[in-house]
Amino acid sequence: MQILDGKLASKAIKEDLTNKILELKNAGKKIPHLAAVLVGNDPASETYVASKVKNCNEIGITSTLLRFNDSISEQELLQQIQQLNANPDVDGILVQVPLPKNISEKKIINTISPEKDVDGFHPLNVGKMVLDLPTFISATPYGIILLIQHYKIETAGKQVIVIGRSNNVGTPISILLSRNATYGNATVTLCHSRTKNLKELCLQADIIIAAIGKQKFVTADMVKENAVVIDVGINRIKDVTKKSGYALIGDVDFENVAPKCSYISPVPGGVGLMTIAALLMNTYKACVNY
Ligand code: GUN
Repeated sequence: MQILDGKLASKAIKEDLTNKILELKNAGKKIPHLAAVLVGNDPASETYVASKVKNCNEIGITSTLLRFNDSISEQELLQQIQQLNANPDVDGILVQVPLPKNISEKKIINTISPEKDVDGFHPLNVGKMVLDLPTFISATPYGIILLIQHYKIETAGKQVIVIGRSNNVGTPISILLSRNATYGNATVTLCHSRTKNLKELCLQADIIIAAIGKQKFVTADMVKENAVVIDVGINRIKDVTKKSGYALIGDVDFENVAPKCSYISPVPGGVGLMTIAALLMNTYKACVNY
């Protein structure tokens, strides 16, 4: 069994990007600039955004963090986004979700300029992804592809089970893995709450992608020998032994599933770190227009 180490894989991507950004700098060209928008004080969102900003700084991407109280109106937030759209120095815009209930996420995402939508959430960019046109692929599915790519895991002709059909993970990763591309050409089944024979389907899978948001949902009896298991779950559980007061656990019962796998990604230290690397890649792409 080999660990799909998000730390190692994201480090390689970050080193490559550091060099590319240095080349831009040395050539007197524009340096990528990410504007991250955080509304309110959700602890998980605070952690994610802080990590995104820190990672930008580490590799030479300029970052601006715009923080607003959750009392900000939808109209005010839309205006802030429009200002960022109009600011030629800003290459990428990220609005951390979830947003407060009184603000329509859909409206906010639709207002971000598609050329600056480094989260790949805008409907135009989702449509381009479906059609396999150049675009920003959103961070989590892109991060999974980058992890598969780093470990040269064959996907062509493989049976893939994706568990969970969210807009941000399950649906896009099922499309990406089934398209006619180097890390695609898989036969993908997208499973969800109405799937009847999940265990039987999983037992046939060469690759399982767990993105359901339920801790230890994938158990050893659902996994065939030598399968590849990619865990996208980030479930917070109370843990008084940790400084933060919580621990992160995945959607996979790692301890019992791992011995059966050829490859497995851990939580933490797997896909989560790759999503940041993917965001950095998108921000670089936004700056150099490709
Ligand atoms: N909230 C959880 N994941 C994400 C993400 O990838 N992007 C944004 N903007 N918000 C998130």
